Amino acid sequence: MKRKFFIASALAAFFMVGTSCNSASKDQQKSNSSVQASVSGTEMSASAGTEVPAASIEAGKKLFNTKGCMACHQLDTRLIGPSLKEIAKAYNGDKKGLTEYLKGNAESKVDPAQKALMEPQLAITKAMQVKDLEAVVDYILSNK
Ligand code: HEC
Repeated sequence: MKRKFFIASALAAFFMVGTSCNSASKDQQKSNSSVQASVSGTEMSASAGTEVPAASIEAGKKLFNTKGCMACHQLDTRLIGPSLKEIAKAYNGDKKGLTEYLKGNAESKVDPAQKALMEPQLAITKAMQVKDLEAVVDYILSNK
């Protein structure tokens, strides 16, 4: 009787050790894969960060609002001018093309039939400093 009990508890102990070992190694596997996931996550955000600096987008958004552009351009609905999304889609990341347009050096491509309304506004963007104009361009293109 006593001996049976001993064997039973020894077996129980053996199983407990066995399962806890198992779960420990599973935990380790889990944490290994989450380390990998976060490493690749950092890589992704690092490469996105070099493409368009968030600070520039933020500065551009402020300028867009304070310079009165928002009066005619909404985020995703056409008002007097095309929406920011529509413009961002048409330019599709073409930073140089949009910069040239806002400097008054390129034809409009989103809605040329309405360009008479937009042309006077170019006086504002033409007068901007290079860095500010770049921020506005970054902001517009970020709305795709
Ligand atoms: C009075 C209304 C009005 C204001 C204010 C205005 N826009 Fe526009 N905008 C328009 C209209 C209308 C169009 C469509 C004509 C066109 O695409 O040429 C347009 C088009 C554009 C385009 C697309 C150009 C293209 O290639 O077709 C950009 C970029 C743009 N606006 C930026 C701005 C910025 C930046 C400001 C602020 C400095 C601004 N707009 C202020 C009316 C306005």
